[in-house]
Amino acid sequence: MDKIVVEGGVRLSGKIPISGAKNAALPLLAAALLPSGRSIYKNVPGLADVRTMAKLLTMLGWEVEGSGTDTLSIGSPAPDKLKLEAPYDLVKTMRASVLVLGPLVARYGRARVSLPGGCAIGARPIDQHLKGLQAMGAEVKLDHGYVDVTCKRLRGATIVLDVPTVTGCENLIMAAALAQGRTVLENAAREPEVEELALVLNKMGAKIQGAGTPIITIEGVDELKPIEHAIIPDRIEAGTYAVAAAMTHGDVLLEGARPEHLEAVIAKLRASGVTVAAEAGGLRVKGDADIRAVDIVTQPHPGFPTDMQAQFMVMACVARGQSIIKEMIFENRYMHVPELGRMGADITVDGRTAVVRGGAQLTGAAVMATDLRASASLVLAGLVASGTTEVLRVYHLDRGYEQIEQKLAGVGAKIRRVVG
Ligand code: EPZ
Repeated sequence: MDKIVVEGGVRLSGKIPISGAKNAALPLLAAALLPSGRSIYKNVPGLADVRTMAKLLTMLGWEVEGSGTDTLSIGSPAPDKLKLEAPYDLVKTMRASVLVLGPLVARYGRARVSLPGGCAIGARPIDQHLKGLQAMGAEVKLDHGYVDVTCKRLRGATIVLDVPTVTGCENLIMAAALAQGRTVLENAAREPEVEELALVLNKMGAKIQGAGTPIITIEGVDELKPIEHAIIPDRIEAGTYAVAAAMTHGDVLLEGARPEHLEAVIAKLRASGVTVAAEAGGLRVKGDADIRAVDIVTQPHPGFPTDMQAQFMVMACVARGQSIIKEMIFENRYMHVPELGRMGADITVDGRTAVVRGGAQLTGAAVMATDLRASASLVLAGLVASGTTEVLRVYHLDRGYEQIEQKLAGVGAKIRRVVG
């Protein structure tokens, strides 16, 4: 298995190009199941999760072609090639596979998708996805670890979500786009990736209003048409590198990053004493002062994103003062804590709350993590630790960070991948 080796102590300086957003690309690939014809996406990130979703679409019969590094075209299946089942051995590797459920039921009246099961950061059920489809008239059966959903034609409904689930909303918006009549989604997720999906579906001919607010209204249409679209930049990748620049007292331009997608993160960076400025072409981050301790509570967007919690925890380890971090979205998203402890961090976890005593001088070590953002936080720790840090199981990183070692080396980091 590959590992990433980092020598700490370098101030990062220069420009980092931000890739297309993983959590926009995944629902957008699923949305390409809805129209007949060939849709083309540009600025597609070169990530393992995107390749997994492309593989799933191919297994369902769609023709997925990658021309160049960041463009994907997705063509409808020939009738005899169409399959309506997402198998366990693929779904278990990526929970977001469940995003094919809404489009397949909406367009073909049936889908059979393996239940995603738990994952490293928590149970992560899909009860809200299923509740919404049932409200639109679908019959849902659980059968040997699979969910079978059937409905001749979905009909619009008012659905009040118990939690503002991101992929749950995305699934239901895609299903409602081809349903008969009006669907109102209440307590909807407000993430920028949900807005991006609604924008692309409207380009396909859907009638969606309110994306980005807690109430989304979808007037069903009979069919959608294929489109061409360039995917928005990845706000979590940008936020991750912003923390890297801050902690190393560097000066980095995050090319293509959009400040409006990162307001809660920028506010916390500024509260930490970091200089963040929107510039032509992106976001400039300068760690020109000591890092001050700040408290973090993760919330649904526009609150502080759970996907940035691990990264800010590393910054808290080297900040002046004590930070209180509360992870309110997932019940088990502190796997990075014991690994940071081995590097000299002083962190106490009690349920959803972590208390970080700052001022640590981190030392390099061989570390590993079991989820994508925890792995990224260990690379960040390596950038400021004294000595050498080896981050193992980098396949977690490759799920969500395109060329992380090249991008960090491009701003001066002493970092390399050792193929193992
Ligand atoms: C999306 O996951 C993101 N993934 C996650 O990013 C992100 O952490 C998460 O949203 C929260 O922002 C993608 O967009 C592909 P949820 P998702 O459904 O949609 C509970 C990363 O690192 N819930 O919003 O799976 C659930 O248990 C990944 O890029 C239900 O109870 O998350 C969790 O506690 C990690 N029932 C909370 O809601 C449901 O039916 C949020 O989950 C669905 C969810």
